[in-house]
Amino acid sequence: MAESAADKLYDYPYRRLAALLKGIEPGESPILTHVGEPQGAPPAFLSEIVFKNAHLWSKYPDPKGTPEYRQAVADWIARRYDLAPGTVDADKHVTTACGTREALFQAGILAAAIKRPQVDGKPLMGLPNPAYHVYYGAALMGEAEPLPVPAADASTNYLPDYPSLPAEVLDRMAIAYLCTPSNPTGGVADLQTLVRNLEAARRHGYILAVDECYSEIFNGDTPPAGGFDAVKVLGEAGDGALDNLLVFNSLSKRSSAPGLRCGFVAGQASLIEKLVMIRGYGGAQVPEPLMAAGAALWRDEEHVATNRALYSGLFDLSDEILGDLPGYHRPEAGFFLWLPVSDSEEAAKRLWAEAGVKVLPGRMMSRPTDAQGHTPGDGFIRIALVHDPETVKVMLGRVRRVLMDGLTVTDRTVRKEA
Ligand SMILES: Cc1ncc(COP(=O)(O)O)c(C=O)c1O
Repeated sequence: MAESAADKLYDYPYRRLAALLKGIEPGESPILTHVGEPQGAPPAFLSEIVFKNAHLWSKYPDPKGTPEYRQAVADWIARRYDLAPGTVDADKHVTTACGTREALFQAGILAAAIKRPQVDGKPLMGLPNPAYHVYYGAALMGEAEPLPVPAADASTNYLPDYPSLPAEVLDRMAIAYLCTPSNPTGGVADLQTLVRNLEAARRHGYILAVDECYSEIFNGDTPPAGGFDAVKVLGEAGDGALDNLLVFNSLSKRSSAPGLRCGFVAGQASLIEKLVMIRGYGGAQVPEPLMAAGAALWRDEEHVATNRALYSGLFDLSDEILGDLPGYHRPEAGFFLWLPVSDSEEAAKRLWAEAGVKVLPGRMMSRPTDAQGHTPGDGFIRIALVHDPETVKVMLGRVRRVLMDGLTVTDRTVRKEA
C-alpha cells in the first residue's frame, strides 16, 4: 500500500534520534542538549499571578485570548519594533497561541486551504532546509507540497532565499516559513531580507510566516530585525499595512517558560480572523490564569535581559572551548550551536556512547535533496545551550574531546580525498 501523509508523520526528529541511539548506553552521566528547552527558571511572579487568578479556572478560554493578553502583546510589539500607534491593533491583528508550535501548524493548514483553489495541483509550502519539523508536518497534513529551500550554511547566510525562486514557483506558494533567528542554524535575516520576503509574498499572493520565537536571545545590544520592521519600510499606515504577514512569537524561550504554552500570532486581520476560526474548532486554548501571567511576562523586560546575558555567557564558554574547531561559528542569535562534523549521525552516536551528550543530528532536521538521500544537514549537529554554566562547560569539554577524535570537518575533507 502506498505511504500516506499520516505515515510520513513518523519521520519526527526525536523519534528518529531515539531509534538511532537505541541500545547504546551513555558513556558518562547524561547531559541532554538535543531539545531546545530552556532549563532556567521563569520569574517567580509567573506562579504568583497564576495563583491569584485561580478563580478563572472555571472559565472556558476564548480561542482568541483575553483582551488584556492581546493588548499586552500589541503593546510589546509596538515597543519592540517602534511602530506607530494602531499599526498593530490588539483586537484585529493579534491572537493568542497555545505556544507557537500549534499556531505554526494551523497557519500552514489554513494557508493551503486558501491557496488550493487558485493553483493547479498541490500548493507549495516553503520550508528552510534544515528546519523546525512542525513546518513539515503542516505541509503533510495540509496536503501541500513541501518545498525545502537550502539554509544550512554560510553560502545561504544560514537562511532560505525564497524571493530568488522562479516566479512560477512563488505563484504556487501558499506559505513560506522564515525562522529568524533560525532554529537550528542561528542565522538572522537582516532588514533588507525581510523586506524582500514580504514584497515577494505580496507579489505572488502567499503568506510570509515569520517565526521569531528566538528574537529576544541575541548577542550584543542590537535586537534582530523582525517582520514588523519590514512593515515599517513598506509603509505602516492604512489597512493593508500587515497584508500577507503573520508573525509568531512565544514566551517559551524569552521567558524560559515552555511549559506555560503561551504565545501569539500577529498580522493581517483577515488571516488572524480565520486562524481564530480554525483554533475554535481544533486548537488548544490557553487557560485564563496562564494568560494573565503571560500578559505580565510580555510587559516585563528585566527578566529577559537577565536571560540574554546568561545565554551570551554560555556562548562565551563555547567560543573558549570549541572556538578553534574547524568551521566553528558563534551564531548571531538563538541558543543553538550548529557545529560542522564529518557525519551528523555518527557524531550523535559517538557523543552519546563516549560522553553521554545527547545532540540532534542535522540530518534529522533536514529533507533529502538527491536520490541518494543526502541532506544539507548531514554535516552538522545541533546542540542546545540551555543548562547552567557549569553543566555547559562540562558538556562542551566532552564534545570537544569526542569531535577532535576524528569527527571534525577537516577529517571529512581528508576522508573524501582518500
Ligand atoms: C523554531 C521554533 N518555532 C517554534 C517553536 C515552538 O515553541 P512554542 O510552541 O513553545 O512557542 C520552537 C520550539 O522549539 C522552535 O524551535
